Amino acid sequence: MSSAFNEETVKTVHHWTDRLFSFTCTRDPGFRYLNGQFTMIGLLVDGRPLLRAYSMASANYEEDLRFFSIKVQNGPLTSRLQHLKVGDKILVGRKPTGTLVQDSLLPGKRLYLLSTGTGLAPFLSVVRDPDAYERFEKVILVHGTRTVGELAYGDLLAGGLAQDEYIGDEVAQKLIYYPTVTREPFRNQGRLTDLFTSGKLFSDISMPVPSIEEDRFMLCGSPAMLKDTVQILEERGFKEGSGNDPGHYVIEKAFVER
Ligand code: A2P
Repeated sequence: MSSAFNEETVKTVHHWTDRLFSFTCTRDPGFRYLNGQFTMIGLLVDGRPLLRAYSMASANYEEDLRFFSIKVQNGPLTSRLQHLKVGDKILVGRKPTGTLVQDSLLPGKRLYLLSTGTGLAPFLSVVRDPDAYERFEKVILVHGTRTVGELAYGDLLAGGLAQDEYIGDEVAQKLIYYPTVTREPFRNQGRLTDLFTSGKLFSDISMPVPSIEEDRFMLCGSPAMLKDTVQILEERGFKEGSGNDPGHYVIEKAFVER
């Protein structure tokens, strides 16, 4: 096996719906990453590594790694990955990377984490990051899905995390979780792009309409969601940031298997 990967062991598997599942695995102590980053993970298929990019959904101080995945029935990797069982081996690339990191954003008051579908994954790491709460007065996580069942980690985000031994106090004071569903009745409904432009998102959470001076954004979702959301931000004067040129927002495409 190539030394570009660690071989880890699956510890837990959870199926949210027939389209979504998550799992945890062991973590090599030498595997370090920034909250919000991704790496290549996969399986040996016919003796060869078959890999896709996955965001770490675990915070970088946790003992295990957590991943959140779609299941594509004819997808080369996820058609296999969805059958993972406790004790199975998984390859985890040793070189994490990614743009959803704190240093690419200018200081601000509020950090919005806007996600759809499995785009939630990197933000499950960011909402456990003490640095995010140090830098911002509020951290607002928006998760848009088709159905209520796809609001993975909803109980954790709506309350469980506030009980966390390490990050609980920060979460209780600063994290706002706003789930929204498009194809079923739910207390919040509609696409996050529409909720943004109508202002309903901000009035629902009692926050001001975002400004270049005070608000920062991380986006993760489908290419269409990213395109539409970036357009909304750019029209309002927000600029994309990078490591050597911090800005008002950063984006990453959610993992989708083709
Ligand atoms: P919709 O049901 O109107 O398509 P998916 O599972 O297909 O990635 O979708 C996840 C969520 O993202 C769904 O609620 C979907 O709404 C929404 N969505 C799809 N395209 C966009 C877009 N261009 N902008 C904002 N939200 C989107």
